[in-house]
Amino acid sequence: MSNLDGKIVIVTGGARGMGASHVRKFANDGARVVIADVLDDEGHSVASELGDTAIFVHLDVTSEQSWTDAVETARTHFGPVTSLVNNAGIEFAAPLHETPVEQWNKVIDVNLKGVFLGIKAVAPDMLGARSGAIVNIGSGAGLIGYENLSAYTSTKAGINGLTMTAAIEYGKHGIRVNALHPGVVQTPMLRNAMDSNSDLKQALNDSVRFQAIPRMGETHEISEVISFLLSDQASFVTGVSLPVDGGLILGKATPLA
Ligand SMILES: NC(=O)c1ccc[n+]([C@@H]2O[C@H](COP(=O)([O-])OP(=O)(O)OC[C@H]3O[C@@H](n4cnc5c(N)ncnc54)[C@H](O)[C@@H]3O)[C@@H](O)[C@H]2O)c1
Repeated sequence: MSNLDGKIVIVTGGARGMGASHVRKFANDGARVVIADVLDDEGHSVASELGDTAIFVHLDVTSEQSWTDAVETARTHFGPVTSLVNNAGIEFAAPLHETPVEQWNKVIDVNLKGVFLGIKAVAPDMLGARSGAIVNIGSGAGLIGYENLSAYTSTKAGINGLTMTAAIEYGKHGIRVNALHPGVVQTPMLRNAMDSNSDLKQALNDSVRFQAIPRMGETHEISEVISFLLSDQASFVTGVSLPVDGGLILGKATPLA
């Protein structure tokens, strides 16, 4: 178990899916957690489960003002922010030539600009404390490319550049920045993606079938690794791009008969 005693963690997209799992795990590991999401009802519901250890704030990661307000609420309620998980994300599935520019822009805004704004918003607290840890959530799909996910994979690949640069800029100030790339994990996003695009559903099922570990991931399997990266146990780990994906990005394994 990771030790997050004394940590004040913002989790974007913490109202459901993997984000809600991360929130529960960090609270269980001793952190106080700020659930930051556009889904108010779901966010309040997760917060109320956790009592005094969690609050919900409405945050649209694409808005700089929204970030300023959320960090201020976190500071007022718990104290200066020590940790951030940039988990909020959206996908849009279509062949590249059928992807409307509005959808491209929307995915870039949430998945990449949102991560940039998040790091920017928490940096003053972390620089003041000369300590902090940030985990940016990419995707195994961003490491290998994925049919029908041009905007999504572009943002998730972009997260690596942003993570490495932030790690270089902030390491000397005691702040660690890492990227974690989940594989195929059963969440509302995955269910919606599979329901809305049969080609993508087939591709995802094939990916899992030929993986080294041939199954979908569970949300807690991602939360465990993020909790470690946020903890002081990972004090010499920065700038890494860590797949947590059952081997999705490796070569194909032959399935058992
Ligand atoms: N599920 C998978 O198989 C998978 C695989 C690899 C990577 N990921 C990544 O993991 C992260 C979590 O995905 P998930 O599967 O739990 O998805 P999800 O759709 O279940 O949850 C995403 C959360 O982000 C929130 N969100 C969306 N736009 C937002 C905005 N503008 N501001 C604030 N919050 C916003 C949503 O409201 C939602 O609560 C995403 O970054 C996703 O790209 C998912």
